[in-house]
Amino acid sequence: MPAGPASHTRRRFLQAVAGVAAGATIPQLGSCGDATTMPSAPGGRAPLPTPAAYAIADLALVAGPAGGGWGGAAGSTWRYNGLLPGPTLLTRRGSQARIQFLNQLPEQTIVHWHGALVPEAADGHPRFAVPPGAAYQYEFPVIQRAATLWYHPHPHHATAGQVHRGLVGFLLVGDEEEDALALPSGPREVLLLLQDRDDDPARAFEYDPTAADLQDGLLRGTAFGNAVPRPTLTVSRARYRFRILNGSHARVYHLALGDGSPLTVIGNDGGLLPAPVGIASAWLGVGERLDLLVDFADRAPGTRVMLSSLPFDAAGGEGPSRQGIAMDLLELVVAPGEARSDPALPAVLSATPGLGAPAAERSFEFRSEHAAGRHLINGLSFDVHRVDERIPLGQTERWIFRNDSGLPHPVHLHGTQFQIESRSGGRNEVFPWEGGWKDTTLLMPLETVSVLVRYEHYRGVFPLHCHNLQHEDQGMMLNVEVT
Ligand code: C2O
Ligand code: CU
Ligand code: CU
Repeated sequence: MPAGPASHTRRRFLQAVAGVAAGATIPQLGSCGDATTMPSAPGGRAPLPTPAAYAIADLALVAGPAGGGWGGAAGSTWRYNGLLPGPTLLTRRGSQARIQFLNQLPEQTIVHWHGALVPEAADGHPRFAVPPGAAYQYEFPVIQRAATLWYHPHPHHATAGQVHRGLVGFLLVGDEEEDALALPSGPREVLLLLQDRDDDPARAFEYDPTAADLQDGLLRGTAFGNAVPRPTLTVSRARYRFRILNGSHARVYHLALGDGSPLTVIGNDGGLLPAPVGIASAWLGVGERLDLLVDFADRAPGTRVMLSSLPFDAAGGEGPSRQGIAMDLLELVVAPGEARSDPALPAVLSATPGLGAPAAERSFEFRSEHAAGRHLINGLSFDVHRVDERIPLGQTERWIFRNDSGLPHPVHLHGTQFQIESRSGGRNEVFPWEGGWKDTTLLMPLETVSVLVRYEHYRGVFPLHCHNLQHEDQGMMLNVEVT
């Protein structure tokens, strides 16, 4: 059945929502809670909340205004199903997703499943935006491998404010290949949504971009995890899995552990890497995900380890929140107890099929014109109804993304995943955690990234855009039609 505007009545819809609240929670991922938890003291740390998890076989999802986030009454948030962050949506390869969406916001919106391989009508393209009070029905088969995906609004000109007010969540796909690895689960599987916000409860969720924000992308000085500032998590002496999503506006994180111990990366945007990768630090641009393991068995009880973002040189931003500042992201406190030793990981995690030789090549130039305040791809600003590129279904192509500006641009494709071939300029390498399948790739200033891409599943119009949310809202987006 094709997805499309829902025809059922509002009353039936609200009954469905009540049904979800009553019965469909799947309490497997860590402890529950949401971001109404306050740090115990000003400047103090807040326990990292874990959003409730729901299956999406038959889900009612409602976006609407809700109470305050951190700081309670001051300001207000917008939430999916009343939760901050939104519920974690669970599905498995081979199943059918059916989601009835209702917009109770005061403005138009549409939900996009970032990284999901779905038909055009279920993709959340801005042209499908639904007005306040209206509904939209999503239905699609889950045809992809296990991966850490996410969902967020995608209306033209208005994505950033909606994400900022709290509309964002994880979408997790599972499959047998991942099950066979017996990765850490339950409380040892940690979902971490990274965002930077104002360190002020009255302003943290207010969206009020300055002129500099519209140019560089919004940057603020305090890292929030799952919508609380300065998160802390107590861990047992065992191996943990961290599934990390950069859901910020513009912030680039350079992840590392404070004690210098290595991170073991097992997956990224599109699921498992071919093999585990041990590294000291990893870059995470907006929209990208990393799936990594950290073993706390050797740490003494009481040890505190900080997951932080290392400082780096980058243009963009001024003052205390500029791009590239050092940031504390998540404090990890080792609890007392017996150390648990987990079996070694297999040397091979997964296989990445080759895409073959490219039949064509295209380039995309990302340019920010500071004086004019414009953010363009190939000189174009987004037109919701204009088709900018046409690519035949099933054809492998080489796409070259060139950043001709002094700002980072995280480049994202809907409707497919791609494989990174090379990066020149800037950091000048393809990093080991960028193997496998990606849907977003970070272009730091003056970098060129070449990827192999093939749209294999659905015809239709899918966006290609910069995932800096201010750039995206100002039109740094094109329409790709798969023919
Ligand atoms: Cu995460 Cu087009 O978006
Ligand atoms: Cu997307
Ligand atoms: Cu950009």
